[in-house]
Amino acid sequence: MSNYIYPIQTKVSQHQREVLLNQKATLIWFTGLSGSGKSTLAVQLEAQLHNLGFKTYLLDGDNIRSRLNKDLNFTEEGRVENIRRIGEVSKLFLDAGIIVLSAFISPYEADREQVRRIVGEENYLEVFVNAPIEVCEQRDVKGLYKKARSGEVKNFTGIDSPYEIPQHPDVVLHTHEKTVGESIQMLLDIVGPRVTLK
Ligand code: PPS
Repeated sequence: MSNYIYPIQTKVSQHQREVLLNQKATLIWFTGLSGSGKSTLAVQLEAQLHNLGFKTYLLDGDNIRSRLNKDLNFTEEGRVENIRRIGEVSKLFLDAGIIVLSAFISPYEADREQVRRIVGEENYLEVFVNAPIEVCEQRDVKGLYKKARSGEVKNFTGIDSPYEIPQHPDVVLHTHEKTVGESIQMLLDIVGPRVTLK
């Protein structure tokens, strides 16, 4: 990084923007295996929050990786940089007063902790979408587990790339034991008070 960078101080704060939008900006971070249900839950929760009048934005793995992060691969290095950038992008949205829903495998505990630090503990809510790998593999929505087993896809999470179990999740959802509706209701009960401005 250049030594000649001088960040400016804006006159409008995150809190002032939150007051204008009448909401507490929060990052809802979904982590879990491919096929665990992250995107399904994030899409549904965003729709519900939007219908309740909250200003939201959804960042999702496949969408971000096909545009902003299309230069990154699925090696450890690629994943670390992917999550670092998403942490920074999420921080910008939080500064703007927006409720952010981020759905990324984010397999490394250190990276999730880094996101928590980047955005600040008070702005971060971690949701561990916890479905056993056997269930995710059976769902195989995109056919990627089959490709990973045959060796066509390399570095696939849970097969030949690790997934570290979250150590401090705020919410754990067992998507193989609950309907989407039940998981969303559980999330709304926890997220609702967090995004409401006191
Ligand atoms: S990560 O680990 O957080 O950087 O991954 P993420 O940005 O969330 O991207 C996950 C989606 O990319 C597709 N995909 C793979 N996932 C895991 N491992 C490998 N090797 C891989 N290759 C492609 C896959 O569609 C993931 O989407 P989800 O929604 O998780 O199934």
